[in-house]
Amino acid sequence: MLSRPRRNRKSEAIRQMVQETRLHASNLIFPLFITEGDRRKDEVSSMPGIFRHSVDELLKEVESCLKLGLTTFDLFPHLEESVKDRYATESYRENSLYLRAIRQVKEEFPEACVITDVAMDPYSSDGHDGIVENGEILNDETLEVLGRMSLAQAHAGADIIAPSDMMDGRVGYIRELLDANGFSHVSIMSYSAKYASAFYGPFRDALQSAPKHGDKKTYQMNPANQQEALIEASLDTQEGADFLMVKPALAYLDVIRLLKDNFDLPIAAYNVSGEYAMVKAAAKNGWLNEQRAVTEILMSIRRAGASAILTYHAKDVLANNWI
Ligand code: PBG
Repeated sequence: MLSRPRRNRKSEAIRQMVQETRLHASNLIFPLFITEGDRRKDEVSSMPGIFRHSVDELLKEVESCLKLGLTTFDLFPHLEESVKDRYATESYRENSLYLRAIRQVKEEFPEACVITDVAMDPYSSDGHDGIVENGEILNDETLEVLGRMSLAQAHAGADIIAPSDMMDGRVGYIRELLDANGFSHVSIMSYSAKYASAFYGPFRDALQSAPKHGDKKTYQMNPANQQEALIEASLDTQEGADFLMVKPALAYLDVIRLLKDNFDLPIAAYNVSGEYAMVKAAAKNGWLNEQRAVTEILMSIRRAGASAILTYHAKDVLANNWI
């Protein structure tokens, strides 16, 4: 036997030397949930260790993450039913919870990179990502709302705008609107291949944003499809996206690799709430070693081709020196 691949695995020094993929704090994006009130930090029951923060608590959380080397945050609002309506008007109201939170984070921590979410669902009385009329999602009318929301977020100081709604044409629509209003420096991270997934369940608990009727299958993608991801990604590229996102991550590693091989833009992957909840539940029962499972999952998402990983594990990973 001339070739013995085990020689390159014989010591930690050699294993490190030949390691093909690395995971660094700069690859991680931490999603954070915001809620009304003062000194509130309510744990999401289906996501142990993840909280809805009032704005004052959010600022403390951002500060402690920055100290750990975690620089990039994706913010999501949890809103009372009473402020929701059919047209998601709360999403661009001048002094809304979400816009205040963005402004305060950027004022106190200009070095933090703030990603903001563009979609109607947290603000919609229908719990959908678009305007609903007679059970149908109205694509082009929704673009107008997404545009207003994006501009309001850019005004508040967003570094990167992330449309998660899956309406057709939204990246180009938002890009043109931002450019026309002096925000050509604001980036767009597009949820390009976002699948209609069971793994969003805990997130919808966190925001109380589940659809009140129907499902999201007329806009989010069929989990059976790969080719369709190429269509979505090429449109987003032509429309001016700066990042292409695949979501969820773990059940879609093939899609991450497909986009990585076919496009030049950096790929982001969203290690979603349900993926987090599974690991936490198993670890709590002693069925999995949390550190090993989490680092293996994140490394696999990197190996598949993602530069950036949105993950609820981000703070744990850095606080416990798992990488
Ligand atoms: C909706 C949105 C969802 C997530 C991010 N933005 C859920 C959905 O489409 O219903 C899910 C994130 C997660 O599960 O962690 N615009």
